[in-house]
Amino acid sequence: MKFPVSPLICGVHPPPISEVKGWLAAANPQLPLIDLCQAIPDYPPPRELTDHLAQVMLDPLTSRYSIDEGLPEVREAVCSGYRRLYGARINPDQLCLTIGASQALWLAMVTLCRAGDEVIVQLPAYFDHPMALAVLGIRCVFAPFDEATGGLPDLAAISRLITAKTRAILLVTPSNPTGAVIPPDTIRELYRLAASRNVALVLDETYNSFITGGVRPHDLFEDPSWSDHFVHIASFGKTFALTGYRAGMLAASEQFIQHALKAQDTMAVCQPRVTQHAVKYGFDNLVEWVARNRVMMERRHEVFRAEFAKGDNAFTLVASGPFFGWVRHPLEGVTGRQVAKRLVEEMGILLLPGEVFGPGLERYLRLAFGNIREETIPEAVQRFRDFRI
Ligand SMILES: Cc1ncc(COP(=O)(O)O)c(C=O)c1O
Repeated sequence: MKFPVSPLICGVHPPPISEVKGWLAAANPQLPLIDLCQAIPDYPPPRELTDHLAQVMLDPLTSRYSIDEGLPEVREAVCSGYRRLYGARINPDQLCLTIGASQALWLAMVTLCRAGDEVIVQLPAYFDHPMALAVLGIRCVFAPFDEATGGLPDLAAISRLITAKTRAILLVTPSNPTGAVIPPDTIRELYRLAASRNVALVLDETYNSFITGGVRPHDLFEDPSWSDHFVHIASFGKTFALTGYRAGMLAASEQFIQHALKAQDTMAVCQPRVTQHAVKYGFDNLVEWVARNRVMMERRHEVFRAEFAKGDNAFTLVASGPFFGWVRHPLEGVTGRQVAKRLVEEMGILLLPGEVFGPGLERYLRLAFGNIREETIPEAVQRFRDFRI
């Protein structure tokens, strides 16, 4: 390539999962690999769903576009699911089905911001968020990470970061990478803060089906005026084990969705119809299946925590929750990347270094233990104990 490309994209680091997978060539050949790198359910969607989709594929309509926001009956099914989980006062015109939560984030950001605007992002941040903001020329203003709170947001700190250029406060709950679940009261206070400063509270709730006990993640949706200052991002990829189907959603006010649809039309036109049918089937039929998988994930979390806390472990579990453990490594002055590389090469463990989740996080590592079966967890944690410091 001889022509110049955008300096904004040049400034963004390569996708972290690809970078880390590139280290696999040097993995310890003596040990079976334990992959704690990417947060994907290790189980497939249920057979009844794929059988249903096999029938859907026979309908010629399935190969066509749908309307940009998605089929009305699919959005209605999502609304019913949201009434169950959130007690949501929501209607299908407040939804746009998207190509994963990833595209929902893009829709939200291009609708909210111009280049040069600011978005407050809590550290540690899900790496794709700062990457997307950087490509769009939106300034990412990081709210600092506090180990003592396990990465939960500090309202006073966030409040101090709001300027005339701020358009949104962007948070992930349950968090990727820490697993921390923001308590409903804090979410309510964040909403009040956003409202008082007239900015949007944007919550990426990709892991909302995995909160311990299946409790209501927050009560914002119960308020008939939730959409005044709230924008919600969801992924059904994790919920129904359909990450490859690219199933996500943006929920916001009707007015916001109408604007977002202009970008949707140029980006994706619509979520693939087959994915939409999968989402509808999931909301209509898989409530129990989702709950069973949540319980299984809770059990993995408990086993992981118990194993990690057993003596003689130089790594410290700073925070954990659905899918993730956020760990401080013991090597002062050594980056997360260096430790992560050694963990692949010496211990056959693949994970992500802390610094991909934002500046100043070199002392940490992210473990996606949700990927591995319960019986593998003790062996995985033992390898941390066996690591030579
Ligand atoms: C916090 C968070 N948001 C968004 C995504 C992307 O989700 P999707 O696959 O639905 O685009 C992920 C995937 O790991 C995630 O962890």
